Amino acid sequence: MYLGFIGTGKITLSIIYGIFKSKLKVRKIYISQRNKNISNKLSKKFNKIKILKNNQEIIDKSNLIFLAVTPKVGDKILPNLKFHSNKRIISLISTINLKKIKQYTKSKNVTRVIPLPFINMRKGPIIICPSNKEIKNFFKHLGTVIEVRKENLSKAFWSTSSFMASYYNLLNIICNWLNSKGIQKLQAEKYTKELFLALSEDAMNKNKTTLKQLVLESQTPGGTNAYVLNELKKKKFYKLQQKALNGIFKKF
Ligand SMILES: NC(=O)c1ccc[n+]([C@@H]2O[C@H](COP(=O)([O-])OP(=O)(O)OC[C@H]3O[C@@H](n4cnc5c(N)ncnc54)[C@H](OP(=O)(O)O)[C@@H]3O)[C@@H](O)[C@H]2O)c1
Repeated sequence: MYLGFIGTGKITLSIIYGIFKSKLKVRKIYISQRNKNISNKLSKKFNKIKILKNNQEIIDKSNLIFLAVTPKVGDKILPNLKFHSNKRIISLISTINLKKIKQYTKSKNVTRVIPLPFINMRKGPIIICPSNKEIKNFFKHLGTVIEVRKENLSKAFWSTSSFMASYYNLLNIICNWLNSKGIQKLQAEKYTKELFLALSEDAMNKNKTTLKQLVLESQTPGGTNAYVLNELKKKKFYKLQQKALNGIFKKF
């Protein structure tokens, strides 16, 4: 398998790390020179990586091509590239829809995929749209594949993946608060990360318990968890969360 990445940014870096930790059999990975720091780092670390200066050369030499540039760059460069019909294209670009990618590449072999940075650890959900056996078989080595038939559904998943920064902010506020109460910063960080890791693992392990049930089970009437939940509800914290989801959905 010959892979090609148009755009060597953060997500390309994560995917390539994941690939080399997996059992995927890859002959060569061609990457663009941009970003220089990341492409140099990758080619120094893995001998199957080859940096190419020309995007067309990457396409011509690969059979699975990842479009990993920002939407603005995609709009600019894709119409000028030639994709032979036997090439499989994977678009990671957030806000360019399938129809447009197919127009730009003049190809029908396009799948939109939403990986997340943890793909470098071969963890986390990976959305694939539309369903495709070959692409699923590739990504199942890098995380948990969720196939969606309709692009609108994949837009909904994109929206939820925009909650990463606010999730970390929630943890950061807890950590800073602990710190303000006299707990050392390092200890506060460790405690907070461990707490939320255990909560996520617990939710995964209890795979027959719904999230709604977990909300109920983790509070006792009049207890501390119920107090915090109700305070946040009263201040419309969760209404705001829904509003933000609706707002971000309109952007995709
Ligand atoms: N980051 C994520 O977690 C994530 C997850 C899923 C999907 N995505 C999507 O994947 C795409 C890339 O995201 P990213 O976070 O990796 O962005 P990024 O770090 O900004 O990477 C984009 C890369 O494209 C390069 N580039 C710019 N112009 C180019 C050109 N003409 N030819 C080839 N490469 C060029 C940039 O190089 P320079 O630095 O030299 O400009 C940069 O390295 C986006 O559409 C994003 O929505 C990202």
